[in-house]
Amino acid sequence: MIKEVKRGFYNKKDVIEYTLTNSNGVSISILNLGGIITKIMTPNKEGKLENIVLAYENIEDYYSNPSYYGAVIGRTAGRIDKGEITINDKLYELSKNYGVNSGHGGQVGFDKKFWDIKDISDDKATRLELSIESHDLEENYPGNLTVKVIYELNDYNEFLFKIKAISDKDTLVNMTNHSYFNLSGDYKRDILNEELYINSDKILKIDENGGVTGEEYEVLGTPFDFRKPHKIGERIDSDDPQVKLGFGYDHPFILNKEDRRIVLKDEESGRVLEIQTDQESVVVYSMNFINDCTIYGGMTPKRRLGICFETQAPPIGYNEVFKEKSYLSAGKIYSKSTKYTFKVEK
Ligand code: BGC
Repeated sequence: MIKEVKRGFYNKKDVIEYTLTNSNGVSISILNLGGIITKIMTPNKEGKLENIVLAYENIEDYYSNPSYYGAVIGRTAGRIDKGEITINDKLYELSKNYGVNSGHGGQVGFDKKFWDIKDISDDKATRLELSIESHDLEENYPGNLTVKVIYELNDYNEFLFKIKAISDKDTLVNMTNHSYFNLSGDYKRDILNEELYINSDKILKIDENGGVTGEEYEVLGTPFDFRKPHKIGERIDSDDPQVKLGFGYDHPFILNKEDRRIVLKDEESGRVLEIQTDQESVVVYSMNFINDCTIYGGMTPKRRLGICFETQAPPIGYNEVFKEKSYLSAGKIYSKSTKYTFKVEK
């Protein structure tokens, strides 16, 4: 079932919120603006449905959305070192909206665009298809790019986020979703006591600007080892040089190929979130900085209130390292998928 509600008006267009609900009462709400997820309502161990993603109190804050709450990120997620990229021997200067680097698609990324919406549900799942056209040299990326995102919810409490894109010129595409999870439900607690598992043996080092240097960092013996579950807060303030550079976690974890899986657990509510993806890595961002937009329910944002799992290809770092992982040749189809499963443990 999909319900529609008008939530606002921006850039001469209605901002509509679509709510997908399954037979267990689990629901996901998504805006036509930025494909932004505003709500994921899942049960705790008593069966109480509460929101497990950060949301703003005022719809207007989604028009600027300084921390990219819930948004679809494109054309490229994360930072591109110095905002410069060569494609077919031509240099493209991207907007340096992240200090010295380009970030999350530039000034007007996919998170600020209105998406066309179609209900493509069938008897297996409730499905919302979102599409946009991004024109040649938009944000200075080459190629007319057609993008489709599908949000799908089934009765097994599985939520799929699928992306497809095709361009008429060689270009870059590396997309993700930027939801901040907090399993306590309606943000009763921060995420420091939530337990995290990531099947990853190594992360990518970042520099003082958050850019990827190209060097790997083995997680063994560091605060980045989540191969056995650890509480997020346990080592987040350690003096590991990489944790210090990120002011917490803000790093690409390379997912082990045989099982690209992340699990987040909150003992108190009993909620468990399992994430599986065909993306190579996940940028884990532990909300190290805040903006001043009020959180839904009237709360002032605070650090570590949410955690992002940005499943994506490794961002482009020094000397265009990893460029090939975001490279999309003309006429080829980019296709990625991430599945979120909502469970309860009593
Ligand atoms: C980045 C952070 C940034 C945040 C909000 C994350 O994806 O990795 O460095 O502060 O987005 O812009």
